[in-house]
Amino acid sequence: MFYPIFFLILALILFFWQISQIISVLAGVPAVYSRAEGIEKAFKLAKLESGQIVVDLGCGNGKALILAAKKFSARGIGVEISPFYYLLARIRVFFAGESKNIQIVFGDFRKKTGEVKKADLIYLYSFPETINEIESWLFDSTKPGTKIISVGFPFKNHKSFKTATHPALFLYQNQNFDK
Ligand SMILES: C[S@@+](CC[C@H](N)C(=O)[O-])C[C@H]1O[C@@H](n2cnc3c(N)ncnc32)[C@H](O)[C@@H]1O
Repeated sequence: MFYPIFFLILALILFFWQISQIISVLAGVPAVYSRAEGIEKAFKLAKLESGQIVVDLGCGNGKALILAAKKFSARGIGVEISPFYYLLARIRVFFAGESKNIQIVFGDFRKKTGEVKKADLIYLYSFPETINEIESWLFDSTKPGTKIISVGFPFKNHKSFKTATHPALFLYQNQNFDK
């Protein structure tokens, strides 16, 4: 009796995981993770400070936010559209002991203007198509002074003020001070 139940649970988990992968791909960006060294480099480039809020658009397993909290004493908000990675991120944040500092929100980041407005730093690891699609919304929605770091690909219509390689990083700042 034990084995059939075990395999049924395993099959359900695998099914849930596969459906979640498909949702990520349909949303435009599959779940591939930044490496810890790359994330740290990005936060150093952005001069992330203690108490600042990092919003990770498509937070995957929550790795970048956990690192932001542990190494930079920052707070975090992660938005994730894939149910599997949303749950995984919540579990990882809980076991990292960072539930007070990191909030994981389920849904499409293109609709999370409220979360984006709270950011001191937006962390984005996405693909060019999505980056182009959200560019004007993102720069219009963030508060003046907010930094935006894109891993891998630049924005089309804004000029980064700092860059790095390995991984490719593009750092921007919302300059809409007169809004
Ligand atoms: C390339 S991974 C990056 C994960 C994490 N930010 C990192 O750097 O390790 C992109 C993540 O964004 C999620 N995603 C893609 N489109 C999304 C959308 N529109 N709203 C929320 N999450 C999205 C995917 O499910 C995936 O987990």
